[in-house]
Amino acid sequence: MSRPAAGTLPRSVRITGWGLYAPERVLSNRDLEKLVDTSDEWIRTRTGIRERRMAAPHETTATLAAVAGKRAIAVAGLAADDIDLILVGTLTPDYWMPSTAALVKEAIGNSRAAAFDVMAACSGFVFAYATADAYIRSGAYRHVLVIGAELLTRFLDFTDRNTSILFGDGAGAVVVSASDEEGGGMAGMELTTDPDGAYMIWLPSGGSKSPSSAETIRRGEHYVRMEGKETYRYATKTLATSALKAIERAGWEPDEVALFIPHQANVRIIESVAKGLGLSMDKMFVNVDRYGNTSAASVGIALAEAVDSGRVQIGDKIVMVAFGAGFTSGAAAVEWTADPAQGRRALDVVPVASVRAPLDWDSVDPMPARLMAVLEARDGPQVPLDDVVPGEPDHAKRKVPA
Ligand code: ACO
Repeated sequence: MSRPAAGTLPRSVRITGWGLYAPERVLSNRDLEKLVDTSDEWIRTRTGIRERRMAAPHETTATLAAVAGKRAIAVAGLAADDIDLILVGTLTPDYWMPSTAALVKEAIGNSRAAAFDVMAACSGFVFAYATADAYIRSGAYRHVLVIGAELLTRFLDFTDRNTSILFGDGAGAVVVSASDEEGGGMAGMELTTDPDGAYMIWLPSGGSKSPSSAETIRRGEHYVRMEGKETYRYATKTLATSALKAIERAGWEPDEVALFIPHQANVRIIESVAKGLGLSMDKMFVNVDRYGNTSAASVGIALAEAVDSGRVQIGDKIVMVAFGAGFTSGAAAVEWTADPAQGRRALDVVPVASVRAPLDWDSVDPMPARLMAVLEARDGPQVPLDDVVPGEPDHAKRKVPA
């Protein structure tokens, strides 16, 4: 990487492409009723979640990320090789090494980008977006692909009702680009990390403190653990304060913001943030009902849906805000500059991607056995709520070709 020549720094840094990928299989609250002591009514009223998506056996975090990434590149009107840097926010990587971003680079057909993962749990997309913005402002790169992607259903204990009802799979992406035009893009941001909450949401084993072994598996330490109440308390506080900080840095007032795109963890958390900011819920984008908590993917998916469904227009001031394990939180106040109609370009991207596996290695069946038994026994296919929710972007409805 060479230093930019004087005068080549961008005048602004803008989001030029966006895209999402949601796996086809729907996991409903009724399915979960057959696995843990819960009810559709409890899940809907306490979280707002009605269903979530679950990746197919051939899919991995990298393949979900690659489809969303290819869509964002198409929407930006770029070719894969125009991308200089690929950042993947995820807490569910394909492997500990290589990075998921490295696998995504190959899957999207890019031959020249640097690529690395960003680990900030559910704040991963906002942290990666802030990283992209800084790299481009410095003159180091012109086009950065930012992806949030998660395959959480493979890290959940489907006997634990505290966690198994909350999470889902998916990916959301943006292309962030240097612009020679003045104004627009990120106007203010705030990133925080508070290790007091380090063990409120965590995955105990598989790291250097407790490497995977038969004993860690026996103890179920390879699954996500969470203190729901503490996390809820932290989330309501930090989402509001982080959003306000980013708004203040942008020099805006909260009521100038056209749309908040918050991390989709629980609709009650989003309602409480709206109340705290003195805003009505129509200023909050919500899709947690259809996807559950997709962690680092959630803000990226929500942004792409918000733009594709006409909720964001050129010149709008928007705020993306997330919180997650760590505890982390991140907010970005952004003036939107791209024509939402460009979202149609994503329609040409077939929702399939493949990641090469080593020839001499047979991975085990990745699907959670208890869950698969329930899904295979259910009557007929599950119809996604997408089909009944008005404003669903066309490309989110596209099915994988047979
Ligand atoms: N089904 C039925 N009942 C349940 C369930 C369930 N799935 N889970 C808990 N309950 C019961 C409890 O046992 C309790 O029963 P009791 O009153 O007889 O003791 C009752 O329901 C209420 O439980 P609470 O824990 O008080 O429920 P709460 O309203 O706090 O909701 C929830 C729990 C949904 C987990 C909430 O606390 C929450 O959303 N927390 C934030 C979680 C979050 O956002 N995590 C993601 C972080 S981001 C990341 O980085 C991964």
